[in-house]
Amino acid sequence: SGTIVVAVDGPAGSGKSSVSKASARKLGFAYLDTGAAYRALSWFVVQRRLDPTDSAAVIDAIADFDYRIGTDPSGGDPADTGVFVGDHDVTEAIREPDVTAVVSAIARVPEVRTYLTGLFRTIIRRTERPGIVVEGRDITTVVAPDAQVRILLTASEEARIARRSAELVGQSAAHVGEQLHRRDRADSRVVDFMNAADGVTTVDSTDLDFDQTVDAVIEVVHSVT
Ligand code: C5P
Repeated sequence: SGTIVVAVDGPAGSGKSSVSKASARKLGFAYLDTGAAYRALSWFVVQRRLDPTDSAAVIDAIADFDYRIGTDPSGGDPADTGVFVGDHDVTEAIREPDVTAVVSAIARVPEVRTYLTGLFRTIIRRTERPGIVVEGRDITTVVAPDAQVRILLTASEEARIARRSAELVGQSAAHVGEQLHRRDRADSRVVDFMNAADGVTTVDSTDLDFDQTVDAVIEVVHSVT
């Protein structure tokens, strides 16, 4: 199809989600947060009280994992999608520390990655808008390596910790920094999202504010479409 795919990868705290969402909104494109699916499966594993490091149990759980994303049917913002597992609205629960703590363990199971990658490709294929912004860790390299637009969104570790700390009110910068560092290190063993692959444009947001970062992303999109 003629759908324009904008692939955005980057580490935790790079502003990836908020920047991708705002860019999708400005472009009139759909938006897919792939991390939310990894988080939703992690929520499901926690809910079932499974051991997140027990790959066989996690793989079994995939069979019962009913993942849905939904836009407000009353005509809400297309970039604002709720996350559901079966009948449970887990939009907020998937951001909780107990889910964040196990997501890297879930995400390193190859069967999980294969399953979710298939799901993401189906969602991309079914996009009804002129384009879709897809955001995660392995979008430019694995999920949509043939995307028309491929961006690595980076920021210095200091900037990322400062942004995350501002979001997570009540947690010390030291604690937030340690969690972020630990998750990036675990995730880096599975996919390389710290270095731009061939043909991927790096947008470094360290010295940019939110609007400037969104503009930089849109500029990359316009330069190739
Ligand atoms: O983007 P976010 O921080 O919400 O992603 C949560 C987790 O999901 C990451 O820490 C990583 O373990 C996993 N993930 C992944 N591949 C993606 C997106 C997310 O492994 N494309």
